[in-house]
Amino acid sequence: MSDSRSTGIPLKVRNLRKSYDGRVVLQSMDLDIAAGEIFVLMGPSGSGKSVFLRHLIGLEAPDSGEILVGGERVGPDIDQTRHRLAMVFQGGGLLNSLTVEENVGLYLREHRLKASEEINRIVLEKLALVRLGSDDAGKYPSELSGGMRKRVAIARALVIEPQLILYDEPTSELDPLVSLTIGREIVNLNRRIGATSVVVTHHVDLAMGIADRIAFLSEGAIVALGTPEQIRSSPVPLVHQFLNAEFKEA
Ligand SMILES: Nc1ncnc2c1ncn2[C@@H]1O[C@H](COP(=O)(O)OP(=O)(O)OP(=O)(O)O)[C@@H](O)[C@H]1O
Ligand SMILES: [Mg+2]
Repeated sequence: MSDSRSTGIPLKVRNLRKSYDGRVVLQSMDLDIAAGEIFVLMGPSGSGKSVFLRHLIGLEAPDSGEILVGGERVGPDIDQTRHRLAMVFQGGGLLNSLTVEENVGLYLREHRLKASEEINRIVLEKLALVRLGSDDAGKYPSELSGGMRKRVAIARALVIEPQLILYDEPTSELDPLVSLTIGREIVNLNRRIGATSVVVTHHVDLAMGIADRIAFLSEGAIVALGTPEQIRSSPVPLVHQFLNAEFKEA
């Protein structure tokens, strides 16, 4: 790992449990993610992937167990500014009353981190990375396609040059070419600023192409963990079925 990757922060999860209305969604998860790692989380719909991500940035409190981000325990008062945590939400999570440009620049403006012209420049630069132009900058989320909203959400996360970035289904709703660009951008960001990246995806090629390691979640438990090669040859039936699922007429 080169020095340029040194700004990422490690993640430690210990005995994490969460139930909703008596139904267990995360059962005793333990996980260590290294600083600068690209860690992919896969698993069936409803297996707890989004719930897990929400715990990592303190949006949900566990029933028991703990999460350490950069050595600091995640809780309601974790200092998000100090650690520069970013999340790309499954549905985008944009504010409907703000334009694309305002959504992407919101964090920098609110924290008065840069001069206004500088913010405009950064916003356009990040939008260009996800192939959105200045014509899109003035639009409102309701005027965008689902894939465009997802790309705006990614641009918004990139703006803070995060040390830890969580992506929930970054390529769902995107066409194959834009998916490829997003995959490359996840890797570039990781190389450029060393951001520790946790990527939830159903997209097998993306996972295999970008991951340092992959974890497979089933009913709130990790059933397989390893490098893409190890996961490809996993003996766990669910993993095998998932990776080799193909439509065939009966
Ligand atoms: N706030 C909540 N209250 C009650 N149940 C919840 C809540 N959030 C999630 N769940 C339940 O937890 C389970 C896991 O949900 P989660 O959103 O993590 O699934 P997922 O693995 O991200 O699935 P998908 O691939 O479809 O996005 C689901 O059964 C869901 O209904
Ligand atoms: Mg989800």
